[in-house]
Amino acid sequence: MASIEPQRAGAPLGRGLTAPDLVRVWDMPIRVFHWSIVGLVSLSWVSAENGYMRLHLWSGLGLLTLVVFRIAWGFVGSTTARFSDFIHGPGRALAYLRAMRRGERPAHTGHNPAGGWMVMALLAALLLQAGTGLFANDGVHFNGPLAARISSALSDRLTNLHGNIFNVIVLLVWMHIVAVMFYRYVRGENLIRAMITGSKPRREIPGNADLKFVRLRWALLCLALAAALVFWLARF
Ligand code: HEM
Ligand code: HEM
Repeated sequence: MASIEPQRAGAPLGRGLTAPDLVRVWDMPIRVFHWSIVGLVSLSWVSAENGYMRLHLWSGLGLLTLVVFRIAWGFVGSTTARFSDFIHGPGRALAYLRAMRRGERPAHTGHNPAGGWMVMALLAALLLQAGTGLFANDGVHFNGPLAARISSALSDRLTNLHGNIFNVIVLLVWMHIVAVMFYRYVRGENLIRAMITGSKPRREIPGNADLKFVRLRWALLCLALAAALVFWLARF
């Protein structure tokens, strides 16, 4: 099922880098997923704050679909998308942080062992946020699609939780952005450009990196299954 995407060759890409100096590390589904969740988290927040609850429902369901897709892609996706590539025990994450403190530059192709934990925290918080949203109510005229399935006391509690988890998401996102800026301005690694273009300079990744990229059609299949599951849940 996995096949290796050819490296793009071509014209200079700025700062003296040409395509052969770059290695493709992130596949297209991961990049589209990332920038779409940034958009949908913002839309969910703005719509809730302004009382556009229909829009809030749709952006929340969209986000839930993407997170379910991402979980599936973490098992069947390209090398750097897989949980097995970036989830390591706390010992390895701490060793990585200690090496950073000593001023070393341990190279990683995808998420580093500490960043992997942040990714999991973000995904878990987003899943909980959208999951509790399904059961939430605004106390006036909007109920999440599954709110009528539970008691109103439980729905109220989950609504509270929905508000609280959002605060956790805001905190995690700030930490995430500070970490990305640290890499950019302290270590000189432009992770943002990699998350946009998919490629990193060859010198920033280990020489023995063995990357496999899964074809886009499998991502589309995972996305379609995730959407079907979420919309079935919402109409349940
Ligand atoms: C709502 C805001 C955001 C959320 C929820 C979020 C979430 C995430 C998640 C879940 C990942 C892991 C991607 C994956 O493996 O699927 C990630 C990676 C990443 N994000 Fe964000 N992100 C947000 C905002 C941003 C912003 C504003 C930036 C740029 C300043 C950014 C830059 C990055 C970069 C560079 C990576 C890759 C990190 C690495 O190389 O290990 N993110 N983000
Ligand atoms: C599954 C879809 C979702 C549904 C059905 C849903 C439902 C609701 C409801 C009914 C409220 C009103 C609560 C109140 O008035 O106290 C609310 C508020 C809110 N939701 Fe969602 N939500 C969903 C997903 C999301 C997502 C994905 C986010 C952000 C990542 C989000 C962020 C918020 C915020 C920030 C508030 C305002 C909380 C407050 O005022 O304390 N929701 N949501």
